[in-house]
Amino acid sequence: MSSAPTTQENIAVAERIKQLERDYLLQNYSRYPLVLHRGKGCHVYDTDGKRYLDLIAGIGVNALGYAHPRITKVIREQAGLILHTSNLYYHEYQGPLAQRLAKISGLERTFFANTGTEAMEGALKMVRAHGGKISPEKHEIVSLENSFHGRTLGSLSITGQEKYRKDFEPLLTGVKFVPQNDVVALEQVVCDRTAGIVIEWIQGEGGINPMTHQYAQKARELADRYNALLVFDEIQCGVGRPGKYFAYQMTDPPILPDVMVAAKPLACGIPLGVFVANEKAAAAIGPGMHGSTFGGGPLACRVALEFLDILDELLPHIQEMGAYFRGKLEELHKRFAFIKEVRGHGLMIGVELAMPGKQMVLDAMELGLLMNCTHDTVLRFLPPYTITEKEIDRGVSILKKVFQMAKKRGQEQPS
Ligand SMILES: Cc1ncc(COP(=O)(O)O)c(C=O)c1O
Repeated sequence: MSSAPTTQENIAVAERIKQLERDYLLQNYSRYPLVLHRGKGCHVYDTDGKRYLDLIAGIGVNALGYAHPRITKVIREQAGLILHTSNLYYHEYQGPLAQRLAKISGLERTFFANTGTEAMEGALKMVRAHGGKISPEKHEIVSLENSFHGRTLGSLSITGQEKYRKDFEPLLTGVKFVPQNDVVALEQVVCDRTAGIVIEWIQGEGGINPMTHQYAQKARELADRYNALLVFDEIQCGVGRPGKYFAYQMTDPPILPDVMVAAKPLACGIPLGVFVANEKAAAAIGPGMHGSTFGGGPLACRVALEFLDILDELLPHIQEMGAYFRGKLEELHKRFAFIKEVRGHGLMIGVELAMPGKQMVLDAMELGLLMNCTHDTVLRFLPPYTITEKEIDRGVSILKKVFQMAKKRGQEQPS
């Protein structure tokens, strides 16, 4: 009979894993010192069996938490049937998923990719092709300062943060950045040369900054006036995260884009990115102009269909839990002076601090809670959509301890 490994053995296993990564991986990630082994619901466990309440959920990917029985079941079934077909052939799930995406987005035609940035690349090609069909000068893209659209060269070119772009310049030419929610600046820059306006509806990596209704309206109006495509990046803020299918549906009436890009939660951890376009935008891409070997495989598409069935019923719960969580965070806001603001929609929430948040993330991890800090000072929460009030209460009580520790550290610092 084999006995369960001791904590010492587990620590040695975790250390070996970290050392192998130090020796053999490109050193581009600065990971937290945690080796994850398995998950159940809203909790993950490390190789030592320690349990963590996960309020960042794979940066918004694990929307149904871990080991959801319905998702596990379809993955098992599909693995025994067919995993990959290539796009040389049809399979049973792309058509139904595209139909479903059309229904929930109000748009018409889908392209299946694998990641957020790959989907965004496709949308950018659509924008360029649309502009190119009208005039060779119509190639400019307007994007927002502080935005994040991905790491490939096209997406990077429209990412409004110098720190991500600077090592890879020169990037795409003709990209104009404007401040978020500044209607006048947008009006000044959009013109006949504009092929597309790309907007991240709620900036995620940039610190959980929602767009105003007025700004979205102006972007729509300018795109129509200059025959440019309006593209919404819903990779982080969409697919249920705000308590609606997509963040642009939060306004009444919704302001529809010409192209919408989504990814993260769509196949619950199986890579899947999409862009969905209306007929006008879709007309820019003809046969042979775009493609992907892995994009839209039967496994990812089947899982996404199952996920969307579950999501239909979860939307009110996301709204309810989001409001509950924000309410609890507002209570902490009143107690701790270094909390500047609590903001967000649904289960996409940011807590802006008057100090860097990295140490708080580490303290929380020690106490069994996973979150992350973006933009140096914004604690970011993207919990699974299935989170319960009880789990939120537990998370908030850990956060309270973390904030008390930070307050104590602040008081101990020499003035
Ligand atoms: C708004 C937004 N766009 C694009 C991306 C890029 O997605 P991916 O990392 O899947 O390429 C991300 C990733 O965090 C994102 O948040």
